[in-house]
This record gives sequence, C-alpha cells and structure tokens, in this order.
Amino acid sequence: MALTYSSVTKKIIMALAGLFLISFLIVHLSINLLLLFDSSRESFNVAARFMATNPVIQVMQIVLFGGFILHILVGIILQIQNWMARPTRYKIEGYSQSSFFSKFMIHTGAVILAFLVIHLFNFFFKAKFGEMPEVMIDGTLMEDMGLLVIEKFKEFPYVLMYLVWLLFLGFHLDHAFHSALQSLGLNHSKYTPLAFGLSRALAILIAGGFILIPVVIYVTQ
Ligand code: HEM
Repeated sequence: MALTYSSVTKKIIMALAGLFLISFLIVHLSINLLLLFDSSRESFNVAARFMATNPVIQVMQIVLFGGFILHILVGIILQIQNWMARPTRYKIEGYSQSSFFSKFMIHTGAVILAFLVIHLFNFFFKAKFGEMPEVMIDGTLMEDMGLLVIEKFKEFPYVLMYLVWLLFLGFHLDHAFHSALQSLGLNHSKYTPLAFGLSRALAILIAGGFILIPVVIYVTQ
C-alpha cells in the first residue's frame, strides 16, 4: 500500500514537472519560430537577449533545469519500479492500457535527453562560455544567436540529427499530456478520446513546429 501511495505521488510529480516542461517548449518554440518570420533575425535576437538577461527568466531557468532533473530522476525510479513489479500490479497501475508510445516513454525520454545535451553544447553553453557573433540592433550591441542557429542548420548532418531528435520528442509528447491529466486525476472516461486527441495535437504542433525550423532554414539558406 505504501509503495502504491508513493507511486501515485511520484506520478503527480512527473505530471507537474512534465506540464511545466511542455509550457517551456511552447515558449521556446514561439521564440525560435521568429527566425522563420523575420529574415533580419532582429526579433529573434532581441527575444533571445531578453531571455538571457531578464532576472525573472534567469530564476525560471534554474527552475527549468530543476524541472528537467526531477522529471528524469522520478521517471527512472518509476520505470525501475514498474520493471520490478509483477504483471498483475503492472495492470493495476494502468500502464498497459494506453497509447502505443506509452510503453516506450523511458526509451524516447533517454534519446531526448542524449540529444538535449548536444543541443545545449551547440547553443546554450556556446552563448554562456564561447565566442559569439555580435550584431548592432537599435544602438545595442548583442549576440547574434540567430546567425549561430542558421549556420548550424546549413549543415545537413545537424538537420538530420535535429529531425531524429524532434521525432522522438513528438513520440514522447504523444503520450505525455493525457498521461499527465490522468496522473493528476483530471481524467474522466467520457473525455478520454478528447484527452488523447489533445495530446496528439500538442505533440504534432510542438514537434512539427520545431521540425520546421531546421528544415526551412536548410532549404532556404
Ligand atoms: C529546432 C529546434 C530548436 C532550436 C533552433 C533551439 C534553439 C535554442 C537556442 C538558440 C538556445 C540558446 C538560447 C540562449 O542561451 O540564449 C536554446 C537553449 C535551450 N534549448 Fe533549444 N532549440 C530547439 C529545440 C529544443 C528542444 C526540443 C528542447 C527540449 C527538449 C530544447 C531545450 C533547450 C534548453 C533546455 C535550453 C537552455 C535554456 C534556455 O536557454 O532557454 N530546445 N535552444
């Protein structure tokens, strides 16, 4: 019983951290899409600078990395518990009756994490610790983060790598949203198809939106 209770608590933590990460993805995607709509890169660079310098965002960034770590650690613990559980308990916990990708959350999650580390080295750590191109916008000298992104996506191997990564992100998200609703007790059998549909729509919009960025840049630059 104690194990069941703690599993429920862990699932709630997973769900809250996961929903927070989804909200980050929506903000991150919106800012990145600016690159496709403003070829001068100005709006993207101004937004990137705001995100990199605003004190509230800096605090949120720490919360974000905390959210990632929490989501990953609790996910691993839950998965190990799940592997150790007998088939009957497996069924009671409701893991088995769900979408196709629900069985592979730990696998898709691991692939996303591996690529995320490469992604952070490509952009985030480069901006923090590396040499950055600069640009003058409205009298302010700032990092030309947009140029860095465009230069990366002129190279086919990077485009391919991001495509694979973002497809796995889509697979992961396909199960994520409705599973979070379920863990938070916000599910009702009447609305199950709606929750599944919303989850899939979110996965397609987020992964598809991110995929547009390397593909459009590669094709048009
Ligand atoms: C085409 C897709 C993507 C592009 C072009 C992109 C671009 C960027 C850039 C330019 C930065 C550095 C921002 C800065 O330091 O000022 C960044 C940071 C980051 N990206 Fe992405 N990103 C993409 C997809 C993703 C995805 C799918 C995830 C998560 C699964 C992600 C997670 C992060 C995180 C955690 C950071 C560091 C925190 C931050 O700066 O906001 N990114 N990304």
